Amino acid sequence: MKQSRIKIKWPNNLEIFAYEGDDWFLIAEKVGLEIPAGCLTGSCGACEIDVNGETVRACITNIKKGKECSLKVSFTTDPFWGNKII
Ligand code: FES
Repeated sequence: MKQSRIKIKWPNNLEIFAYEGDDWFLIAEKVGLEIPAGCLTGSCGACEIDVNGETVRACITNIKKGKECSLKVSFTTDPFWGNKII
């Protein structure tokens, strides 16, 4: 079965297509952003991003299609979120 592509808009206004199941960290890197990481087990919250208004932890959540055919990522208000351009 062929997977459908999901358009993702990032806080730096770049858009990229990904597939369901893709890794958030790798797709963020492709648009020049680095999602901070800590524990990589889902317990610290360092990797939280907002996807269409819902907070997800990137280390334990892969990209998944929602009701909408595109996703908008924004940074959480966590002061440790660096918005680092790589
Ligand atoms: S890196 Fe700790 S919750 Fe994701």
